[in-house]
Amino acid sequence: MTERTFSIIKPDATKRNLTGKINAVIEDAGLRIVAQRRIKMTQDQAKKFYEVHAERPFYGELVETMISAPVVVQVLEGDNAMARYREVMGATNPEQAAEGTIRKLFALNVGENSVHGSDSVENAAIEIAQFFKDEDIVG
Ligand code: CMP
Repeated sequence: MTERTFSIIKPDATKRNLTGKINAVIEDAGLRIVAQRRIKMTQDQAKKFYEVHAERPFYGELVETMISAPVVVQVLEGDNAMARYREVMGATNPEQAAEGTIRKLFALNVGENSVHGSDSVENAAIEIAQFFKDEDIVG
């Protein structure tokens, strides 16, 4: 079923000029980039985006990392896009990521792991709405 998911190309990747290489992996996996914008996240946006992790010891560092340089926020579309993108990203910790995945190819460590992808279809809709208006998404 055609579905949408939310993606962020994180500061560690934009700083190393990897946006195009990551987009190539996404597109080669059959996902379509139907909306995309490069932004500097505000601290409020990052705190809200990751508020489910507010009690975790790494929350402060996570927020600071996400606002340290520009990010590219994206909407991806395709068959089972949420689960498909999670496969394409690989495990959160790049040491555990499978060969050929974005995190295996590009991530530096668990905190600088190059990309974020929604972990459920419900969260995808919430995350997309935080950064895009319906009319900005052209499928
Ligand atoms: P992401 O998919 O963006 O969702 C939450 C993020 O928290 C995750 O990717 C990691 O970058 C980060 N994260 C998870 N565990 C740790 C950890 N132990 N230390 C630092 N950052 C972490």
